Amino acid sequence: MQKTVEITEVVVLREWMEPDLTSASRHVRLRAEIYNRRAMIVPVKSFAKINLGLRIGPLRNDGFHELLTVYQTIGLFDVIRVTVDRGSGIEIRCADPRVPKDESNTCFRIAEKTIAALGAKGRVVIEIEKRLPVQGGLGGASADAVATLLGIERALRKTMPQAEKLRIAAEVGSDLPLFLVGGAVLGVGRGEQVLPLPDFPSTACVVVTPDIGVSTPKAFAEWDRRQQTCSKLTSSQLSDKMNELGLDLSAWLSTLYSGAPSKVRGGRAGNPLLALVRAGIDNDFERVVFPEHPELGEAKRALVRAGAKYASLSGSGSTLYGLFASREAASAAVTKLRRAGWTAQATITLPRSGYWTRVFQG
Ligand code: C5P
Repeated sequence: MQKTVEITEVVVLREWMEPDLTSASRHVRLRAEIYNRRAMIVPVKSFAKINLGLRIGPLRNDGFHELLTVYQTIGLFDVIRVTVDRGSGIEIRCADPRVPKDESNTCFRIAEKTIAALGAKGRVVIEIEKRLPVQGGLGGASADAVATLLGIERALRKTMPQAEKLRIAAEVGSDLPLFLVGGAVLGVGRGEQVLPLPDFPSTACVVVTPDIGVSTPKAFAEWDRRQQTCSKLTSSQLSDKMNELGLDLSAWLSTLYSGAPSKVRGGRAGNPLLALVRAGIDNDFERVVFPEHPELGEAKRALVRAGAKYASLSGSGSTLYGLFASREAASAAVTKLRRAGWTAQATITLPRSGYWTRVFQG
């Protein structure tokens, strides 16, 4: 049935492209093409995220921590190429030796679940063109996994309801579901419950990627150790600190919609994203990651010296980002940072509409 549809589509296309060919020769060519046809390769861009503020709450009984953060997708990406062919099994291909090729890879795990949920059969080949840092706090592995899910759906021409996709993504990792929403996203629970926020205008951003990886579980373990030995904050004090950020976000959001003039709206011509970060949000992971890796704190200071309106660690790091008033300011900062020996690149924050337009763009 599917083949019939494809043949009709190709014949119509051929008639339009090659009007001089006889119908017979068109069909001879077409039969050869179908005979040689290989499984469709679906390229998907897996865009990275940064965290605009992140508060770590109490440790839960399931071993996870309560979390409150605003995720924001940005313009840097890996490319995932998904093929579903006849046969069975899952194969991961990636030239980067740091990327696991077995079932410990999030792409592998989500591919298994997606194929099962779609009731499909086939051999899935996932090629990862790695451009984002590994263990960099930009959600690279999670974005790759969600791109794999979307690629398999497209390759099989089948889709799942959004609720099912969100459930599968959350089973594979806490910061996967955000990539099924894109743009500015509020993350609660362990970070897997995602609520779309109003789209901020695209904002100039510079990303500094120091040459170290930070393990997220280790950063959470270090956070717990410090809570017990240094800060001695009780669970209820941690909850209070989460509530503070929650209230700041509530105030910012409600003012955004109320029409009342306020600093958090960024003024008539202001950028509400810069207004939000100026309101004083920060990332709790900096308190455990900076003492362990002092150069990350230095990178944050270098971003501010280079003109960032706001700079922060993303997730548990090691990536730092800075937000800038203009693309020109961001590009001047990249030059300055590179001169000082940092690996820096300019990008933009990616609003939801831009995110979904570009995910499948070749
Ligand atoms: O959800 P994900 O698989 O990415 O989490 C990896 C690890 O990070 C978890 O096993 C847990 O140790 C830690 N984690 C946490 N609290 C969260 C998210 C992750 O403690 N909210």
